[in-house]
Amino acid sequence: MKRHCKHWVVVIAVCAVFAPRATAQEAEKLAVAHGPYLQAVTETSATVVWVTNKNCVSHIHYGAEGISSDSNDATTAFASHDGLIDANTKLHKIVLTSLKPGRTYDYRIVSKEIVKFDPYEVTYGDTVTAGPYRLHTCNPQKEQFSFCVVNDIHEQAERLASLLSMVAWDATDLVFLNGDMIDHWTRENQVFDGFLDVCVRRFAREIPFVYVRGNHETRGALARDLIEYFPTPNGRYYFAFRHGPVSFLVLDSGEDKPDANKEYSGLVDFDAYRAEETKWLRQTVQDDLFQTSRYRIVLVHMPPFADERAYGQSQIYRSWVPILNRADIDLMLCGHTHQFARIDPNELAHHFPILINAPDMIVNVAVSESSLAVVVKQVDGRVVDVFALKPDSPN
Ligand SMILES: [Fe+2]
Repeated sequence: MKRHCKHWVVVIAVCAVFAPRATAQEAEKLAVAHGPYLQAVTETSATVVWVTNKNCVSHIHYGAEGISSDSNDATTAFASHDGLIDANTKLHKIVLTSLKPGRTYDYRIVSKEIVKFDPYEVTYGDTVTAGPYRLHTCNPQKEQFSFCVVNDIHEQAERLASLLSMVAWDATDLVFLNGDMIDHWTRENQVFDGFLDVCVRRFAREIPFVYVRGNHETRGALARDLIEYFPTPNGRYYFAFRHGPVSFLVLDSGEDKPDANKEYSGLVDFDAYRAEETKWLRQTVQDDLFQTSRYRIVLVHMPPFADERAYGQSQIYRSWVPILNRADIDLMLCGHTHQFARIDPNELAHHFPILINAPDMIVNVAVSESSLAVVVKQVDGRVVDVFALKPDSPN
């Protein structure tokens, strides 16, 4: 009898703990928890990503400048795969297609809660909207713009906010997050708290960022989901795109140690991955669009390094530098070492300058027909480096 009483006490205690919490969750108002943020913006498309606090189905209303995203003339976009509209999810990712190069569009996001998902009847709840926000497609005809680069933030969101507070957003078309923005990815919130929410507050609803994968983004149980949150134009972590007179090459340098290193527990295959990427790079630098650009800029997290003790870096040095040396690269932007360095071109090694940015610094590049004007600032506003590069080719 006594033992039975004990069980009842346990049951009552469990109910007391869990019942009010469940009620609070149900009572929580539907909201956009993170985002929206722009990804994979090209000349003709843009992807908008956001996260809601409850499962929803979502769409976007958008229109070219002058057509309000609220008007009847606005276009509606949603995501579907294999005949099924993406639904019953908190992560929303919608691609706007058939856009025109160098144009401005206004967009508004809409998410409708799915309260109950039965096989033959779905019960909807509240709807939440946000916007309108403005986006600009890439424009190969544009003569000048600026972009900035930060890296190795390692979830220090406050420092990132300080760095971003120095950016002149009116002139900035693009931000590169050049790897190691997080320590590893174990909890979903690491990307939100570590850098994403700051980016959204500062710029990312209207100015896209390009997330260059660093070696720390490859670590943790969620590492394989990264591209779901940060989609790229080709679904890979390496790609090329053109904006204004610049062809950008975004490369993924992978992990820093050999695949067999015990830290990776037998779960990485970067030798084969980098070989595949090398093949892609060899072809991409032959593309007409790449070859006819006035400037060619490479973004890669780890700098190539001839020292065989740095496994990943020496592999990309051997595989990629010979290709890039024949491709008239104007500038390579890297991170990873946590130490600022500008390494001049060297006829015996890399034929292009390499700028390694530090975690507490931000690089701003003003692109014009006549030069790439580079300024590196420390988080306290002190100017660390200033230089300008003239175009190699007359294109
Ligand atoms: Fe790194």
